[in-house]
Amino acid sequence: MYSKTLPAGIDKILWSETKIQRRVCELAAEIEQDYLKSISNKHPRYQPIVAIGILKGAFIFLADLIRAISVPVEPDFVRVSSYSMGVNPGQLHFVHDAKTSLKERHVLIVEDIVDTGLTLSFLANEFKKRGAASIKFCALIDKTCRREKEVQLDYVGFHYSGDAFLVGYGLDYEEMYRNLIYIATLSPSAIQSSS
Ligand code: PRP
Repeated sequence: MYSKTLPAGIDKILWSETKIQRRVCELAAEIEQDYLKSISNKHPRYQPIVAIGILKGAFIFLADLIRAISVPVEPDFVRVSSYSMGVNPGQLHFVHDAKTSLKERHVLIVEDIVDTGLTLSFLANEFKKRGAASIKFCALIDKTCRREKEVQLDYVGFHYSGDAFLVGYGLDYEEMYRNLIYIATLSPSAIQSSS
């Protein structure tokens, strides 16, 4: 439960805790069903799915998602950032890389929100080079209004066509609001007043 008074800066709740949890369970059921064949423990080279969460935003979603999946899942994390200057400004690189070898593994990339699509596109290229058996994408929110790179998402929690800044359930604005149990829009004045 959350109080009727929203925290400063929060405009409107888009998805409540109940809605998020329900959707996470539905996604988990879909994922479980799809992977049943490929990770069957009757297979001689059976290995759990590697679920890679993209830090920091996906940490809550990943934790809830994999606990709702009853087939074996091995979690790992990456963190990417873009260079602000130098020879390749804007280019993404790993700030933290996954520790798990992805060779011949079924990889599920877990993202809190897809915006431009640049992060997922970068990771797909990187993980392909590492010889993953398969790569699938699971995003809690597919925010389409600023998309630059087309990415084929295999599992989507919520579609969002608006252009508001979204926070909560892992998503932040200047490191605030990640611990909200719901996902909400941030008021434009909160962004203006901090810049
Ligand atoms: C956000 C979000 C996604 C990424 C999506 O992360 O959590 O990982 O941006 O953006 P894209 O589709 O435009 O590439 P951010 O870099 O803000 O870091 P954070 O997860 O630590 O908040």
